[in-house]
Amino acid sequence: MRIPVIAGNWKLFKTINESVSLVKELKQLVANSHGVEIVVAPVFTALSRVSEAIDGSVIHLAAQDCYWEEEGAFTGEVAPKLLRDAGCSHVIIGHSERRQYFGETDLTVNRKTKAAIAAGLTAIVCVGETLQERESENTFTVIETQITGSLFGLAGNDFNHVVIAYEPVWAIGTGKTASDAQAQEVHAFIRQLVSRLFGQSVADSVRILYGGSVKPDNVKGLMAQTDIDGALVGGASLKAESFAAIATFNI
Ligand code: 13P
Repeated sequence: MRIPVIAGNWKLFKTINESVSLVKELKQLVANSHGVEIVVAPVFTALSRVSEAIDGSVIHLAAQDCYWEEEGAFTGEVAPKLLRDAGCSHVIIGHSERRQYFGETDLTVNRKTKAAIAAGLTAIVCVGETLQERESENTFTVIETQITGSLFGLAGNDFNHVVIAYEPVWAIGTGKTASDAQAQEVHAFIRQLVSRLFGQSVADSVRILYGGSVKPDNVKGLMAQTDIDGALVGGASLKAESFAAIATFNI
């Protein structure tokens, strides 16, 4: 009932031409995929060219961030409606790298999420604990604070345009994936929390993705978990072959 989402976050990698070649290759490799929402998130400057390249394919386009205002004197920012204009259907919000290096907080994530939804985008809202937070047994408190703050004030039907991504910071780019059980435990916690905050039907339908060193050889185990509805992939999404292998995990 929850359609899995496999999203590739290309982070700060690839020129426009490299992005277009990657997505063209990917398009062919995933042509026979079914029952999966496939998303790629290139850098801003490549969005509109990648959008043209995926036209007519099963691949959806995401940006890696947005601002919450529609327009104005906000030098350097990009509004959700401009992402729509560039061909995006999705936007990643609150990635841990933005929280870590660019001062993103639950409050700014919340504003961005609301603005993205209002513009008709699907917000992929990221949460995740650091290694220190996990080791000091604060994982659940941290996740609860992030989810509560990031999704504050959303209405039930807003969740048709929200995907949650759980990305433990210690698993990102480290090759250290959370075990299937570790990931499932936090996903189940997030779903219960969403149920408490927004009701059972929202909790039953919201997709919760896992991110952090997802590779072709661990995706099946993760996807077999009850509360894992997809993956947000970094490194392995930069090569068409490995991302396609992840995106076709169910074939
Ligand atoms: P890696 O798959 O490279 O660990 O990155 C995960 C991530 O941050 C996706 O947003």
